[in-house]
Amino acid sequence: MERKPFIAGNWKMNMTAESGAALIKELAPLVKDADCDVALCVPAILIPAMTEAAKDSNIAIGAQNMHWEPKGAYTGEISADMLKEYGVKYVIIGHSERRQYFGETDETVNKRTRAVLAAGMTPIMCVGETLEEREGGLTEKVLAKQLETDLAGVEDVTKVVIAYEPVWAIGTGRTATDEQAQETIAFIRKKIGELFCPKCAEKVVIQYGGSMNAGNCKGLMAQPDIDGGLIGGASLKTDFATIVNYNK
Ligand code: 13P
Repeated sequence: MERKPFIAGNWKMNMTAESGAALIKELAPLVKDADCDVALCVPAILIPAMTEAAKDSNIAIGAQNMHWEPKGAYTGEISADMLKEYGVKYVIIGHSERRQYFGETDETVNKRTRAVLAAGMTPIMCVGETLEEREGGLTEKVLAKQLETDLAGVEDVTKVVIAYEPVWAIGTGRTATDEQAQETIAFIRKKIGELFCPKCAEKVVIQYGGSMNAGNCKGLMAQPDIDGGLIGGASLKTDFATIVNYNK
């Protein structure tokens, strides 16, 4: 089963309209011949300007969160219609920083994921264990619970992109080894097979995220179950293009 590789950047709370547009103009010619899907998930306020900057390129602009209700009294939140108005295709949901610092739970991740799907966009749904959980031998148990709850009620799991981001590898410079990432992502695929169907699981694009960079992307991308990357720090510079061109 052929899965199209997908490299996405997560700018987190970085860049401005000016510096972001300048980076996209620099990246566009460098990634134009990519064999994978390419996206940059930017802060919500930058979406209009980044959409404009990326308009003649193969870089899709994505968001970093979305609320599950279509509208209403939810100060600080962003709705599906607001994102769709700018042609947003991808929305990161359940990033570990949202879980750690902003009270995101598996239940709210599930609501947001289903809302993104219902709106016809693609959720990039993040799961991952902490260092304590990995060292305690709990990785599979933690991931199984996240997947069960986060994907509950999803009708077509093949429309979800999963990002496996071990919390201990995010922004730490400590990447999972190729083998660790492969083994854990294979487990995630197996679990999705059990929750949905093995054939569907074969179609689900699963990214690795956590200190992925221009130097380690080739080894990670060579693993049979790793279909892409969700890139933080390295997506703020032209290194992102090197990662997108990992197979060149
Ligand atoms: P870093 O690549 O900076 O470790 O961040 C990974 C990440 O959290 C992407 O969502």
